[in-house]
Amino acid sequence: MLVVDGRIHSIGPARRIENLAEARRAVEIDAAGSVVMPGFVDSHTHLVHGPPRLADYEARLEGRSYHDIARDGGGIASTIRAVRQSTPRRLRAQAVKDLRRFALSGTTTLEAKSGYALTLNGELKILRLLQQLDGLPLDIVPTFLGAHIKPPDFIGDSYAFIDTLIRDFLPEVARTRLARFADVYCDQGAFSYPEALRYLEAARRLGLPARIHAAQFTDLGAVPLALETNARSLDHLEALEPKSIPALARSEVIATLLPGSVLHLGLTRYAPARALIDAGAAVALASDYNPGTSPLWNMQTVISLACSQMRMTPAEAICAATINGAWSLGVQACAGSLEAGKPADFLVLSVSDYREIPYYIGANHVLRVFKRGVPIDAESEKESSLS
Ligand code: NIG
Ligand code: FE
Repeated sequence: MLVVDGRIHSIGPARRIENLAEARRAVEIDAAGSVVMPGFVDSHTHLVHGPPRLADYEARLEGRSYHDIARDGGGIASTIRAVRQSTPRRLRAQAVKDLRRFALSGTTTLEAKSGYALTLNGELKILRLLQQLDGLPLDIVPTFLGAHIKPPDFIGDSYAFIDTLIRDFLPEVARTRLARFADVYCDQGAFSYPEALRYLEAARRLGLPARIHAAQFTDLGAVPLALETNARSLDHLEALEPKSIPALARSEVIATLLPGSVLHLGLTRYAPARALIDAGAAVALASDYNPGTSPLWNMQTVISLACSQMRMTPAEAICAATINGAWSLGVQACAGSLEAGKPADFLVLSVSDYREIPYYIGANHVLRVFKRGVPIDAESEKESSLS
């Protein structure tokens, strides 16, 4: 693979590439015997989220459920309180530290959602931070998750909050162009089908295509909602009604599966990846990095879970964690695969067969990460995190 000015100039057998005129003064990276692959495209993260929810974690280990904890003021609401109280500086420091962790684990493009402030200014603060961090050096695709839950201090019912989002939040998010998508959490404890539909339709009219969190615990009509709103991505699906698989498979909607959240919550029901793929659905994999259900940034571990828990093949899982994630974000022309013309976002791994990526569980096989042809190196990353 020959990289010129950060882009893949050409790719093919070594002898042909070495004979190209442009290759004459190239710096050679010897990756013989290693797997070289595209950087991961993590298409679902909640990057900006304040402190970890360690008390929730312990309470769950003692037997309380995710929803019990949320009812008692923990859960998403407690992260919202923390993010609202945090300064932009602290939020930035946390996000920068986490972006390094993503990068050193091989992610070169990631989606990041707002949704942990749920005041107009707070949401804009998160989205502005994402804009500032974009390209330093990872590419960040920002999503407005205004309809995450009804905020704990909101006076009125969840339908009234949807009205507020439509009246006050969405027009401002669209005007500032700080988000590329609008997301909603349609599930028990969050928003109903009609609420989610109304919000996503309003977002679409303002030029914000839909991504959807749904059927994580209960399927309230995940697939009809995605089809009606022409969603780009339908995420979670652990509780997906099997009867809606054919309709999803026939559609353009990408099913984004998040096995890290199932593992961390100690649950046993993973999304039906095998049935989805066998029916012809396009499946992406993502980390769902967040403090409540998935404190996981390493896409290699996501791939392990996809293979060993959801019976995806290593090849399917690697496609799902790269090019399919890129399609779900609409960045398939510039991320997710090693092809001439694309930015040179690639990894050198310490394995010689791609099947070792899922096989060795919980490892970081990444030796080197290149973003637009420039190495992101662990030592310089460590130094800059100290300064
Ligand atoms: O994708 N499901 C909703 N949102 C997150 C969890 C958020 C949290 O618990 O803080 C998810 O799993
Ligand atoms: Fe999520």
